[in-house]
Parts: sequence; structure tokens; C-alpha cells
Amino acid sequence: ETAEKGGYDRFMLKEIHEQPKAIRDTLASRIKDGLVDLSNEVALSPEAIRNIEKIHFVACGTAYHAGLVGKYVLEDLARIPVECDVASEYRYRDPIITDKTLVVVISQSGETADTLAALREAKKQGARVLAITNVVGSSVAREADDVIITWAGPEIAVASTKAYTSQLIAIYLLGLYFAQVRGHKSEAELKEIISHLGQLAGLAEQVLEYEGKIAEFARSIADNEHLFFLGRGLDYAVALEGSLKLKEISYIHSEAYAAGELKHGTLALIEENIPVVALATQSSVFDKMVSNIQEVKARGAKVLGFAVEGDSELQKSVDEVITIPKTIDLLAPVLTVIPLQLFAYYACIQRGYDVDKPRNLAKSVTVE
Ligand code: G6P
Repeated sequence: ETAEKGGYDRFMLKEIHEQPKAIRDTLASRIKDGLVDLSNEVALSPEAIRNIEKIHFVACGTAYHAGLVGKYVLEDLARIPVECDVASEYRYRDPIITDKTLVVVISQSGETADTLAALREAKKQGARVLAITNVVGSSVAREADDVIITWAGPEIAVASTKAYTSQLIAIYLLGLYFAQVRGHKSEAELKEIISHLGQLAGLAEQVLEYEGKIAEFARSIADNEHLFFLGRGLDYAVALEGSLKLKEISYIHSEAYAAGELKHGTLALIEENIPVVALATQSSVFDKMVSNIQEVKARGAKVLGFAVEGDSELQKSVDEVITIPKTIDLLAPVLTVIPLQLFAYYACIQRGYDVDKPRNLAKSVTVE
């Protein structure tokens, strides 16, 4: 087992560090002449792609959080209306499905019982099902109509990291491919986004260099029993994943909120020294985030802010700042989530728990 950890003490840390490679491998061979080509994997004809009226992302746990990012991405790039559900709800709620609905199931293992059942229900009702999975030949891969494999390699730690970032890459590829076929973006616009996508792996390497700073902040809050994550837009989706990571392995109670909802309840819980992780990477709502941060600061919160390189504004309002290298807003989640994974990891280590095998949780939930 020591050899399999490749020099790292724990699988989770190894897998966090494998993300630049996972990103590269998931992109490789899917970009041709500067554009996305998924025609080998997605058998949907251009006409069928143009006829899609809505997309349902369906998944569990971390994969569900990738689907939440997917909602923003597909709506933005391809202008197709998207819903995102947890599989255990979707399978029992009698969703409205037609033959023009594309159901995208996301599953690292491809064996999660609820996700598989949701896939079968969707097919029964006439949807076309596309799977994003990390395991070739898994049940989900075998039963879906189309499959996009995430080439993250085997993920051992229960808390998912590299599978999530690879799922995001698969979602960007899908969004760009559909945008292209549906003519929603010009070739120049698509090429511009794709060139940024090509830079993400290198930028992820840069983010990993903040490990020491994040470990320090994680140690400083490790005795707290409650913590909040705030974000807007794509940052909200990433906040949910950061909160899940922290809960899963450090057992610190945490909640992620859309920052605009603060006033509708959560603000009552903010008191002296409560740690708040505030994500402010999205330029369209940056000013709104700054005022939300000021609201929690005014009530004594200890704030770790996430800003994009060059944004000096945020530093004035927070206690510590993590700077995300510059990319386009749409792609920022891939870079923002990495420090959040490290944050959860070091909070767990500080509290002395087993990172790779958290209590009560399983890597793959194959029973309901
Ligand atoms: C379990 C794992 C999570 C994972 C979820 C969905 O709860 O502990 O890390 O996100 O299952 O798994 P899947 O294999 O379908 O992505």
C-alpha cells in the first residue's frame, strides 16, 4: 500500500496532487484543431443535439456537486435549460421526461445504486442517457446510450477529489461541443474558451503550491465545531463541495450558502470567531460578495477569502486570502476547489482522524 501511495502519506493527498494530470488526460484527444470533438463517444447526431429541449443532471454526493456546476456551464454555453437532482430524489419524483430530454448521469464508480436506478427510470420514460464516469465497463457505462470517460485513474480515498475535477472537465467539453453543434457560440469564441481550458492543468499546479498556507489556516480553525462557506453563482456550487469535503473527513459541521441568502437566516448564526470561507472568484457578483463578507466580518467572523489574482479589493475585507490564478470565470471552479480539498485534508489531519477512511462512509454506495 505504501508503494501505491507514491510517496504520499495518504491516498487523498496523492489524489489531490494528481489533479493536473487527471485534467490533462481527460482533455487529451478530445480537442481537435482547437475545437472539441466528442463524436467518437457521443453518438447523438447533430440533429438530435439541436433538438435537445432540456438536460437533467442526476448524481449523488460529490458527483451531484459537479452536476450543479454543469447547470451553470450548459446553460451558459449551450443555452439549454438544465435541472440538477440528487439521484435518490429523481428516481422517486416522477420527473417530466420526453424524448427530447437528455439525462446526464455522473458517477465516479459507475455503480452507485441510486444513480443506476435513476438512469434506468429515465431510459424507461424515453430519455436519452449520457454517462460521465471514471470506470470503463461499469454498470452505468454499460447501460447509458453515450459515455464520456473521465481519465482520472483509480480513486481510492473515500473523499472524492480528482474524480470531481475530471467530471468538471467532461462537463466543459460537453457544453462546448453542444454550443458548437447548436451554433450558439462563434468558432472564435469557442476557441478562446478552449485555449483557457488547455491552460487549466498548469494553473492547477500553481494552486497546489499554496498547500502550506492552506494547512496553516486549516490548523487555526480545527478546534471549531461550526464553519460556513459562502459563494454566489459558480462559487456557490463549489462552496457546497468544499463544505461536503470538510464534513466528510474532519467531522466539523459546516454549511454552504448562496451568499445572498445570508440575510434570510444564516446571519443569525454568525458570532465572534466563527470561521467563514468566502469565495469571490466570479466577477459579475464580486461586489455583492464583498458586501456579504463585510456583513459577516462586522459580526466577528474570521474570514478566509478566495480572490482571483489581481483583485486587491478583497484583501482589505478578509483575515486571510487565497489567490486563484487568472482564468475565465466559467472555469474557475476547477482551481477554486483544490484549496478547499486541501483545507479539509489539513483540518482532518489536525484533528487526528483517518483521512482515507472516514467513519460511516463508503467509497461506493451500491445498496440503497
Ligand atoms: C459515496 C462517496 C462519495 C461519492 C458518492 C457518489 O458517497 O463517498 O465520494 O461522491 O458516493 O459516488 P459515485 O461513484 O456515484 O460518483
